[in-house]
Amino acid sequence: MRLATLELLISAYGRYAIGAFNVSNMEQIHGLFRGAARARSPIIVQFTRVIRSYADPAMLEGMLQAAERIYPEVDFAVHLDHGDEESCHDAIRSGHYSSVMIDASHFPFEQNLEITRRIAVKAHAAGIAVEAELGLLKGIEDDMTVSAQDAILTDPAQAEEFVRRSGCDSLAVAIGTSHGAYKFSGKQGLHFDRLEAIQKRLEGFPLVLHGGSAVPIQEVERINAAGGALDLSASGVSEDELIRAIGFGIVKVNIGTDGRLIWTRVHREFFREKPNEFDFMPPGRSYMDAYAEFVAAKCEKLGGAGRAGARAPSSVQAEV
Ligand code: 13P
Ligand code: ZN
Repeated sequence: MRLATLELLISAYGRYAIGAFNVSNMEQIHGLFRGAARARSPIIVQFTRVIRSYADPAMLEGMLQAAERIYPEVDFAVHLDHGDEESCHDAIRSGHYSSVMIDASHFPFEQNLEITRRIAVKAHAAGIAVEAELGLLKGIEDDMTVSAQDAILTDPAQAEEFVRRSGCDSLAVAIGTSHGAYKFSGKQGLHFDRLEAIQKRLEGFPLVLHGGSAVPIQEVERINAAGGALDLSASGVSEDELIRAIGFGIVKVNIGTDGRLIWTRVHREFFREKPNEFDFMPPGRSYMDAYAEFVAAKCEKLGGAGRAGARAPSSVQAEV
């Protein structure tokens, strides 16, 4: 069943996090919905601006309508990830999304705020929630690359002011993660002191963690053993850190890279074992299974398993 993003976030706050999975093709959508059904967990399905222009919004939204019929038991919300003003307007007009992210984090504070406020006014008039971002994550997301020197952690006082003045409904914070496979080196991890300071100023307000992929070393090693050449120092966010972050107001965790790594591993291994094959269906089936397994396990870790059907906020109060 299709639910509103904000409803999912509010019901999860402080208790579990909703996995927000970046998907782009039919195999991923089947895998995602099967994984969510298996874990009986609510999920957020998200498409980026760039994926919408790659696949065509009508194709993606059509696949979700099909998924809704095929997997009626799955509770999901649909979100535009990393939108600019134009794609936010388009997503709002389409009627297929219950939330949009306006990503103006690369602009100076006042400009980010102004753009976010413009989108919030439009979105709220249509009953749609808005995620904004303050601070700058390192790494590569679609066509944007941010170097380590340009990355900026979110300032807690600015976060409070930004939320108050912009009217956004959730805030993506930069607390040390980055986009892509190369998040941390050595013993680095999330900046919990920063996250705690942000939460203190924004008590009860939904916070979002971008760059939530774990980048398991086993996946990277298997990809390389099957002909890949990924940097073995690639590392992501440990699941223990994700769980800890839930206690500090992180309620939505964005995961895209892990799904792409599994895709690469499955296909590389398949064609290494069967170099004479050229049919897309056998590796496609394996990918759906592997991605479903990944999604179910991630939902379990984030605490969302078994929560499908729990409607907030009244059901939350009844349950606590
Ligand atoms: P990852 O690259 O860690 O999967 O992050 C995805 C993301 O933040 C999408 O918005
Ligand atoms: Zn992101």
